Amino acid sequence: MQDAQQSLRPIWLDDANGEVNVIDQRSLPHELVVLELQTVDDTIYAIQEMVVRGAPLIGITAAYGVYLAVKNTPAGTDADHLTTECDRIKAARPTAVNLQWAVERVLAAIHAQPDEQRLEAARQAAGAIAEEEAENCRLIGRHGLRLIEAISQRKDSAPVNILTHCNAGWLATIAYGTATAPIYTAYDQGVDVHVWVDETRPLNQGARLTAWELGRHGISHAVITDNAGGHLMQHGMVDLVIVGTDRTTYTGDVANKIGTYLKALAARDNDVPFYVALPSSTFDWRMRDGVKEIPIEERDPDEIRYIQGHSEGALRSVLVPPASSPAANYAFDVTPARLVTGFITERGICAATEDAVRALFPEKKA
Ligand code: MRU
Repeated sequence: MQDAQQSLRPIWLDDANGEVNVIDQRSLPHELVVLELQTVDDTIYAIQEMVVRGAPLIGITAAYGVYLAVKNTPAGTDADHLTTECDRIKAARPTAVNLQWAVERVLAAIHAQPDEQRLEAARQAAGAIAEEEAENCRLIGRHGLRLIEAISQRKDSAPVNILTHCNAGWLATIAYGTATAPIYTAYDQGVDVHVWVDETRPLNQGARLTAWELGRHGISHAVITDNAGGHLMQHGMVDLVIVGTDRTTYTGDVANKIGTYLKALAARDNDVPFYVALPSSTFDWRMRDGVKEIPIEERDPDEIRYIQGHSEGALRSVLVPPASSPAANYAFDVTPARLVTGFITERGICAATEDAVRALFPEKKA
């Protein structure tokens, strides 16, 4: 695979000084800026302000946040302090389930350790999560490849047209991405693919990040408005939709970036397969009814009122609606399981039903 998967990652630990480095995704695609995270406050800031974003990457960052919490805790500090710091990290954003999952996993890894070994145990646990997520995404790519190859073989004319929403690429994970992993894998195997990239208002993760990733990898793509997908599907210009997810119930309901539900409706109306790619860390094994139970983040209305772009060598913000008009910024929506053709996971592809999900992950208990 090219450097998009190997040499450049959105987060890494500097072994020399123990600092956590992240790509500041707010500046992409126009500038590649790296920030250092030194404290729990830095970690929370990075997650809340979307320096880092995307469910698996939020989880990995949170895991390193626990490492930083341990690193900055003076010996002899009350054990409750670490719990409080971890609770603060867990509360940074509400929708991505990977956040709580990763914090709890690192805490469990250090729980029984003597004080002097806790830092190393936290570092190893966070690193293990990062490497496992990279491998999970690689496997998602291998399994999803089958879907793209099957369409390619059946179609009279190339390319296979895939629509994706938001950024579920390596920037949102650690390597390969979730929704993009099958696309990268298919392209690397010589399959002719073209990607329709929803711009994904208001923060334009599609236009800024997915387009940047695909372009770096040499993959044919076009940025489209968030409302264009239905039109393209009606005209036979989409063979397959693949999206990521921030939290998916064990019954198959999928929370993803706002607008995903409308894409699923259009896909169903046009008989276009609609797949969701996710690692097992993004399943919520406790929630049954996604629409009722998954917390949907509401973000600052100014993310809608102001649009950001690059002009005359600098990033600038401009106001779009009347200055007096309020805005409402719902960041995610839930696509019910009945609209999902299937899940692409590290263990294979399955239907979006409780039985099928449990058959792939029999060890998980509700
Ligand atoms: O608000 P974000 O950018 O953190 O949202 C996350 C996303 O990019 C998506 O919803 C994505 O499709 C799932 S995360 C792999």
